[in-house]
Amino acid sequence: MSIEIKNLKYVYNPGLPGETVALDDVSLTISEGEMVGIIGHTGSGKSTLLQHMNGLLKPDSGHVFVDGECITDDKTDLVDIRRRVGLVFQYPEYQLFEETVVDDVAFGPKNLGIEGEELKKTVREAIEIVGLDYEEIKDSSPFELSGGMKRRVAIAGVIAMRPSVLILDEPTAGLDPTAHRDILSMIRRINEEKEITIILVSHNMGDIAKMCDRVIVMENGKIVLEGRPREIFTQDALLESMGLDVPPALDIMRKISKSIDGFTSSALTLDEAAEDIKEFMKRKK
Ligand SMILES: Nc1ncnc2c1ncn2[C@@H]1O[C@H](COP(=O)(O)OP(=O)(O)OP(=O)(O)O)[C@@H](O)[C@H]1O
Ligand SMILES: [Mg+2]
Repeated sequence: MSIEIKNLKYVYNPGLPGETVALDDVSLTISEGEMVGIIGHTGSGKSTLLQHMNGLLKPDSGHVFVDGECITDDKTDLVDIRRRVGLVFQYPEYQLFEETVVDDVAFGPKNLGIEGEELKKTVREAIEIVGLDYEEIKDSSPFELSGGMKRRVAIAGVIAMRPSVLILDEPTAGLDPTAHRDILSMIRRINEEKEITIILVSHNMGDIAKMCDRVIVMENGKIVLEGRPREIFTQDALLESMGLDVPPALDIMRKISKSIDGFTSSALTLDEAAEDIKEFMKRKK
């Protein structure tokens, strides 16, 4: 499912002392099956933009099209749009509330009228795709689980609505390294196995470089850069001027390139860095 955004403008508290232009003439197209990363300094408008993609916020001007259908129209069935475009907020585990994992994941599909065997199957599939063992976890209280598992249960609740697009706002924030890695492989699995379009907001440039086909950079409510990870992350000076880092692998490889004669690398990920070092060692022999 594609999302097309045209000339969005959104102002918080218009006419009041706290007036903030959060989105300023933002246009963007996301194609079916893509994994797109959105980066930008804090307050640049990322979360505000995400909330327009499933109609949670209504723009002051401009339009959002989901699969060609204009959702900024008053006639649109937003309940259906919110099912098809799943939005996972920051710290989604705070929204868990049922007594068991199964009930929590079933909440959304049940509200859509899914029941019986189909409901069971939907819930089971959603729990499995987020990498949890259904039999082991189904009757547990979500509140007894680790932080990473809680977050995966919360994401399973969105997956259970069978969305075509999944939007994740900083899905790895505050997790330990293992849970962090698990969430990333879960996102990749959802994109590959379920062919769900993914939109990922993160402050972790290494994750964005490793995961995304395309990167969108926001600053002060505008899209200021857009391109493949390599095109974006090799513009160090520009990124720095926006208070953004380059992926740690690139940073290290640049430093090594400067200090070792004959070695150059602009690897974005640790895997690419390892390849470049291997090649260099081979050439030296
Ligand atoms: N509910 C709100 N009321 C008033 N202003 C808001 C509200 N939410 C966001 N803003 C302001 O709108 C601008 C964009 O905020 P937004 O949360 O979209 O940024 P962000 O890029 O997601 O930041 P972060 O990286 O910190 O999550 C900021 O200036 C912010 O202070
Ligand atoms: Mg945000």
